Amino acid sequence: MPPKLSIRVGRSDDASHLAVLATQVWLHTYATDGISADIAGYVLQELAPEKYLRTLNDPTRRVFVAQSGANLVGLAVVKFGTACPEDQHASTELQTLYVQEHFIGHGVGKLLLRAAEAEARQQQANAMLWLTVNAKNTRATAFYAHQGYTKVGTTYFTLGEGNHENHVLIGPNAQA
Ligand SMILES: CC(C)(COP(=O)(O)OP(=O)(O)OC[C@H]1O[C@@H](n2cnc3c(N)ncnc32)[C@H](O)[C@@H]1OP(=O)(O)O)[C@@H](O)C(=O)NCCC(=O)NCCS
Repeated sequence: MPPKLSIRVGRSDDASHLAVLATQVWLHTYATDGISADIAGYVLQELAPEKYLRTLNDPTRRVFVAQSGANLVGLAVVKFGTACPEDQHASTELQTLYVQEHFIGHGVGKLLLRAAEAEARQQQANAMLWLTVNAKNTRATAFYAHQGYTKVGTTYFTLGEGNHENHVLIGPNAQA
């Protein structure tokens, strides 16, 4: 585990860091064929500091950040009150789980996921998280399977002219 790793709730003054971190992780994960106009537009618009500032101040969402020393190395965003299309009982969505490539495999993702799951249970006893993950993202799919998540459906992420298949996953019904 990286030295001095800690998980905390995000603050307004994290917005710029989160935008840069999310951009780095998103591009590394999905822009595997270079930067298209659709990708440039998406990143500049959706992963902008103003968007993260809004998310950090949104009462229906909670942001968790992973910090190593003074620096941010991961983030998770959960949204309350969004029913899973495949299972109405799951109403807290894990919208984002990103770990910087240099910190992959050190337990950061699991710690952020645990924080997100605990937050879901704070909202509702025994609540399960649900999420969507790109079907081609084999590393993330394997990570979630290892954490007890199961596929309950399929959805599509649209970017420009392209439709990208996503698995809908639901978390284990933890009692803790
Ligand atoms: C998916 C992601 C969040 C995993 O985070 P991570 O910090 O590398 O994972 P961790 O080190 O916390 O792994 C925790 C556990 O999962 C296991 N695991 C991690 N990656 C795995 C993989 N690819 N296959 C199988 N198991 C895996 C680890 O062995 C560990 O097991 P343990 O609980 O028995 O100790 C990270 O790879 C990431 O941010 N990827 C880029 C962005 C992304 O794809 N996000 C998900 C989009 S929905």
